[in-house]
Amino acid sequence: MELTEALYTTRAMRRVAPDPVPEEVVAAMMDAAVRAPSGGNSQNWRWMTVTAPDVKDALGPLYREAWQELQETIYAGRREAAEARGDESALQVMRSADWLAEHFEDVPLWVLAFSRNDPSGASIYPAVWNLMLAARGHGIGTCLTTVLGFLRGPQAFDVLGVPQDKGWTLSAAVSAGYPLGRWGLAKRAPAQHVTYAERWGEPVAWAVDEPLWNG
Ligand SMILES: Cc1cc2nc3c(=O)[nH]c(=O)nc-3n(C[C@H](O)[C@H](O)[C@H](O)COP(=O)(O)O)c2cc1C
Repeated sequence: MELTEALYTTRAMRRVAPDPVPEEVVAAMMDAAVRAPSGGNSQNWRWMTVTAPDVKDALGPLYREAWQELQETIYAGRREAAEARGDESALQVMRSADWLAEHFEDVPLWVLAFSRNDPSGASIYPAVWNLMLAARGHGIGTCLTTVLGFLRGPQAFDVLGVPQDKGWTLSAAVSAGYPLGRWGLAKRAPAQHVTYAERWGEPVAWAVDEPLWNG
């Protein structure tokens, strides 16, 4: 697959079929992940692939608790506000995220990304994105989620046997499987609307009104 197509179409593909992700594809995803840069090339990461029903059965309720808590705290009022303004695209994201929470156990593969000794917290995400791009190249849909780690991290560690006292953080849980929907272009605010030149608030000289790749 062409790089630009992968960059422009690697969406949050939460709705996936239960069919397993072949082992060689999992290996390719992990190999791409560990090629990514990290601060000082420290590679302070560990990864865990989760496919076993008993492990997913133990994590699913924690994920749903975390998702529910997020709705009641940080995301409180968002759904109602989106409904009030008729924002179908925001509502779609919420429905899709609900689906993922409700179907945690049906997702064939979860890849968990753990990091430590990373003061900025940024070192893991290029690797997570590499993993997601590699998955895209193999026709596997993924979704980066963080809610399990930041709202039920210690409980997830107990399930997974992760030591609680070694400084690890569950930075991401990436769902993966063959998508039920279609790949599409990611819709975003145009770059010139969110990019300044030299000083805060100063416009850039260029504009890209339509995505430079559109299939
Ligand atoms: C840092 C980060 C955390 C995210 N956490 C969650 C999450 O906990 N649950 C979820 O369903 N999606 C999560 N997402 C997925 C976003 O909702 C998704 O990337 C965004 O809506 C854009 O989707 P699109 O590329 O399909 O347009 C997360 C994405 C990022 C980058």
